[in-house]
Order: sequence, then C-alpha cells, then structure tokens
Amino acid sequence: MGPWPNDPLGPVARASADIYWIMFVAAVIVLIIVDGGLLFAGLRFRERPGHVAKQFHGHNFLEFAWTIVPTLTVLLFSVLSFQKLTFINDTKTNADMTFDVQGRQWSWIMNYPHEDRFKLIDGTYLVTGERLDIPVGEKIRINLSSKDVIHSFWIPNLGGKKDAVPGRHTETWIEADQPGTYKGQCYEFCGTGHADMLITLVVHPKDEYDTWIKSAVADANRLLDPATKAGRESFLSLPCVGCHTVQGTQANGKVGPELTHIASAPNILGVLSPVSEENLTKWILDPPAVKPGTTMPNYHLSQQQASDIAKWLMTLK
Ligand code: CUA
Repeated sequence: MGPWPNDPLGPVARASADIYWIMFVAAVIVLIIVDGGLLFAGLRFRERPGHVAKQFHGHNFLEFAWTIVPTLTVLLFSVLSFQKLTFINDTKTNADMTFDVQGRQWSWIMNYPHEDRFKLIDGTYLVTGERLDIPVGEKIRINLSSKDVIHSFWIPNLGGKKDAVPGRHTETWIEADQPGTYKGQCYEFCGTGHADMLITLVVHPKDEYDTWIKSAVADANRLLDPATKAGRESFLSLPCVGCHTVQGTQANGKVGPELTHIASAPNILGVLSPVSEENLTKWILDPPAVKPGTTMPNYHLSQQQASDIAKWLMTLK
C-alpha cells in the first residue's frame, strides 16, 4: 500500500487511477485559474478611495474564452472516460479464465472454470467460498450473480466495484500484476452480515498455480471420499453449518470455530486435546458435558451420527 488513497496493482485499477489523476490535476488547475482570477479581479478592480470599480460587461474575448475552454475540457474528459470505460468493461476479449461468482447473505461462492483440471471425483467442479485463487498476469473474467439481495464484488487494488444483482447477469474482470494476497469486500450493504462478506484473493506465480490446483482438488476430493460420506451428509444437513465454516462446502457459519483444518489442529479451544475421532465423538454427543458453559448445545445425535461426523471431521487436514 503506497502513500496514496489508491494503489493500483492491476490494469483495471490502473485505468481508473489514471483517469482519476488526470481529472484531479485538471481540477486543481481550474481551481487555481478561477479562484486566482477571482482574487486578482477583486483586489485589483475593487472600489476604494480614489478608485471607481471597473465594469467589464460584454467583453467579447473573455465571454468567448470561458465558453469554449470548459466545453473543450468537458469533451476531452468524456472521450478519455469512454476510452477507459471501454477497456474496463471489456470482459469479452482474451479472457484466460472465467469464474462464476455468486453472492448470497453473507458469503461468496466461487465456481472454478469447468475444465478438467478443476474436476472432482463426483463429476462436479471445484467450488470455494471467500477465497479465490488465480494465476498472476492473466485476465480473469468474473460472471456475477446473486441468490438473494444486491451484493457488490470489489477488490480495491485490482479494480472497480461490480454489483451482483438477483435475476440479472453482470460481469467484470480482474488481473493482478504481481503474486500476493489481495483483500476484497462486498461493497453493497446487504444486511447484518454485510461486513463479513470478505474476499481473499490469492495470486499465484504462473508456474505454481498448477501445484495449487492439484492440492485444492485433492483437498476437495478428500471431503467427497465415499468412506466418510455419511458423516459429511449429516454434518451438512444438521445445524452445524450455521455456526461452523468448512471451506470447500456450503458450511460457512461464523459463530463457532472454523473446522476446515480441524484434523491438523493440535487442539481446539483446549478442550479437545488431542483432536481424535474419540474426543470429537464425545464432544459432538454432549458439548456442555465436556466444557460447561459452551455455546454449542447438545443436539441429541445418535452415537452412530456422532461418530460418522467425527470420522469425516478427521479427514479435514
Ligand atoms: Cu453482500 Cu454486502
């Protein structure tokens, strides 16, 4: 982040910043000319002892100049704006990848392109929430939709905001100059969870992107393992999803701890130490018995359900 309020790190953001600076500098020049002229005229020609205020009515050159100069300036700005807008709105030409991104109260669902490299064992394609991974220097087209109310996709360093409107298709594009992590945020107030609608954009060096895809697909496939299917389905159909997040699934609750990597956590809140199938089962069956005062209630699950869920959770590494 530079010292300036805008810090473009991609071509779309740079196009906006360019036009911003051109207009800003032009506005400062106009301010100096107009206010300078005003001050000068006020001081130089004012009525004072021994001096009568001069009248300039009908000065042809001045009238002509202050009509023509602003007209040309506005025309020039219009042409520049249209030029930049054409570039910013050009989602169609030369897109290297296309993502379908859906906003809903209160998270994003990022659908990866339907290409073989993103294909999972159940025939579907990679889907993530909140986090989006792209390669550096490639034009990424984003197709936006909304499930409920109007949201807005915005990654400040990379480009302008684009609304996701229910029942409508909108699109935008992003491209990052350099690898790194970029923060994004829903920019349209969409309810109490609006501030939680974050976007984490991870930009990979080109030669590392394929490695990332392989591990992301492997992670997603592990969630789909037929051996732990019963537990996964229980978890996703029970109230668990309202409080916990498991990336790669629709579980995106923010009340309880995130469980995406629970199996590789040494312990969780100290009460599940070590994290094992046995301890998880005990916890799921009766949380308040393990930790009095916990906000997670006893859902009175069967022993079978609890151990299925624990078995699935143990695959979340
Ligand atoms: Cu979605 Cu604000």
